[in-house]
Amino acid sequence: MKNVFNDIPVEYEGIAAATKELSFNMASDLHTGSLLKTLAASKRGGRILELGTGSGLATSWIISGMDDASTLFTVEINEVLLAIAQQNLKDKRISFVLEDAYTWLKEYRDEKFDLIFADAMPGKYDLFEEALSLLKVGGFYIIDDMLPQPNWPAGHAGRVEAFIKDMENRKDIIITKLNWSTGIILAVKISTGK
Ligand SMILES: C[S@@+](CC[C@H](N)C(=O)[O-])C[C@H]1O[C@@H](n2cnc3c(N)ncnc32)[C@H](O)[C@@H]1O
Repeated sequence: MKNVFNDIPVEYEGIAAATKELSFNMASDLHTGSLLKTLAASKRGGRILELGTGSGLATSWIISGMDDASTLFTVEINEVLLAIAQQNLKDKRISFVLEDAYTWLKEYRDEKFDLIFADAMPGKYDLFEEALSLLKVGGFYIIDDMLPQPNWPAGHAGRVEAFIKDMENRKDIIITKLNWSTGIILAVKISTGK
């Protein structure tokens, strides 16, 4: 158990180096990535959604768990960050979407997803209902940064607390709060009603 990360995706290092040059400080960590890889592997032929691609660090983990029949939509508003992901992750299973996820979530009408990694405000603190409505029953909804982080803006802690309470009170999801990484909540959708 000493070596937790013996399986870092091959693309990870290149993406991390490019990300460092941009001083991007919102990257998902290795623990989150490793968990995403394992969860993605549980969805054979799965449809996966990532909201907030960033430069593609978590994306590299997700695709390393996916089988050949699985597909990933990943949505990012920042074209500079998305370009790093696209340059480093040339994989036909990925659809890169350069769009505001507030708009994308409201307009998406296609098939639902088996796993959603919600790593931007839209789909997490905003438009949570819309994101959850895109998840199949039995699907995973995953969020990180749920423990206090140095880059949280003023007032964010209260928002996090309220969001966690909301998740705890819902009847359509079952959740586990992991005091691990930056604080992860892993939810499974169990019904379509609230
Ligand atoms: C926490 S970071 C994502 C980190 C990324 N998952 C990783 O593995 O490093 C949040 C990302 O959401 C993006 N973002 C913020 N607002 C957005 C919006 N309205 N629509 C789409 N992406 C957005 C940011 O540009 C940023 O890259």
